[in-house]
Amino acid sequence: MSALEDKFRELDKKNREALKGGGDERIEKQHAAGKLTARERLEILLDKGSFTEIDKMVKHRCSDFGMGEKKIPGDGIVSGHGKIDGRLVFAIAQDFTVFGGTMSRANAEKVVKVMNLAMRMGAPVISLNDSGGARIQEGVQSLAGYADIFHSNVKASGVIPQISAILGPCAGGAVYSPALTDFIVMTKENSYMFVTGPDVISAVTHETVTKQELGGAMTHNSKSGVAHLVAENDEDSMMMIRELTGFLPSNNMEDPPVRPFAGDVSEVDESLLNLVPADPNKPYDMMTLIESVVDDHNFFEIMPHYAKNIITGFGRFAGKPAGIVANQPAFLAGSLDINSSVKGARFVRFCDSFNIPLIILEDVPGFLPGINQEFGGIIKHGAKLLYAFSEATVPKITVITRKSYGGAYCVMASKHIGADVNLAFPTAEIAVMGPEGAVNIIFRNKTDSEKRKAVEDYRKAFANPYKAAELGYIDEIINPSETRAKLITALEMTQNKSVSSISKKHGNMPL
Ligand code: HXC
Repeated sequence: MSALEDKFRELDKKNREALKGGGDERIEKQHAAGKLTARERLEILLDKGSFTEIDKMVKHRCSDFGMGEKKIPGDGIVSGHGKIDGRLVFAIAQDFTVFGGTMSRANAEKVVKVMNLAMRMGAPVISLNDSGGARIQEGVQSLAGYADIFHSNVKASGVIPQISAILGPCAGGAVYSPALTDFIVMTKENSYMFVTGPDVISAVTHETVTKQELGGAMTHNSKSGVAHLVAENDEDSMMMIRELTGFLPSNNMEDPPVRPFAGDVSEVDESLLNLVPADPNKPYDMMTLIESVVDDHNFFEIMPHYAKNIITGFGRFAGKPAGIVANQPAFLAGSLDINSSVKGARFVRFCDSFNIPLIILEDVPGFLPGINQEFGGIIKHGAKLLYAFSEATVPKITVITRKSYGGAYCVMASKHIGADVNLAFPTAEIAVMGPEGAVNIIFRNKTDSEKRKAVEDYRKAFANPYKAAELGYIDEIINPSETRAKLITALEMTQNKSVSSISKKHGNMPL
């Protein structure tokens, strides 16, 4: 055998060793727990054969607590780049089969290296989390590694899309890396996230809770609002991420990717004529309108289980992605409360960071009244949504379907805070407040029959879109059946929008 052949054999051996991760026994344990390995996950996430691994021979440098004897190539992270639908992405997958996927100094360096590459190349970074957290044997070096990653997450924010999947444990300060990313997908059975686990909680507050109750997928998708999507299992979460990236540009200098669209852009949907009920207090499902206006009725909802009184998500219009923010009259009458304001604001800011136009479908009776809302700070949280819409310089196209009352009129991308196109259905009611509330204030001393008459007068005078249209606050009152065509025209008209901003370091959003 020649010396050269020897070298290739050695390379082959080392490569094979690296691909084994923590070994067969731990891989079996991973499968028995209903989880895939890091490499199996990447195979599903990325286009077939597109993954190029970086740093697969990196080993940790710790010799404390017997770690000097235990070294596994890759050291608990599988990272590199590949493609999703032919587009470059970077991926970082924690390998639970290697030291529980824990964070060593060497692992952190691998993560930061890939994130820096992703920023330089202008491509999204996808992190697959499944880890016991900071590697205890490495002490402060592990914490330093986490802090370096957090710093990279912050630097990358608004530059490249960052997506996290939680596919196993994610505990302690480790949660802050996914928390700093744009989207978090969690698997239903196997994932959990918490800062302090059930044992610590029990010791400190004497509360009893399971891991799933405390930090499982449904907890973070429906209660805390930390996560954005729930997946059935590892495979499903990888497919969700693939679909999500299809709506996003690779970086903040690009426009979102356009899909060829051969369908009809002037489609009329007569069923929308009956969408808004004659009775202004009757709910209806705003999702019907959304699904009618997007291409192929395909809407990718973000945070579908949280603050259902506002709907956020992505759709395409004649092939071009847009972000949709819609009040949902079927929940809490579509009113804005703390949670929906924060949900909406974060989504708006994401879209604005990445040049994704915004479509706002509005039916909002106002901010939700209540002592809890006031004590909880609805003033500052509502201000987040106002700030986000106002600050956004991407095209903003608003359609008022029914109610647009009070402060919520101003907040939901009104003309006054920079919306480019403001449309209304003939059923729109644009006023300081609803007829009953208004009459109870300005005619509080009148008799009941006088009040009833006053409500009718008020409804005729104010609960319609015509005054706003007279003033130019509404550009056009449209036939609901033509909403899709109107939106596509508005998106085309605004596609080269350019806005110059006043120079400043950054604003001071009411956090
Ligand atoms: C070193 C760890 C480890 C850790 C797990 N392992 N966590 N090694 N440091 N933090 C090792 C285990 O010893 C084991 O090694 C292997 O990983 C797999 O773990 P198991 O316990 O066998 O797996 P499982 O039963 O599935 O339990 C998983 C687990 C549990 C729930 C994650 O391991 C666990 O509770 N670990 C500790 C979690 C934790 O408290 N981390 C610190 C959080 S604080 P062997 O060799 O036996 O296979 C933190 C701070 C970050 O992370 C701060 C950032 C600012």
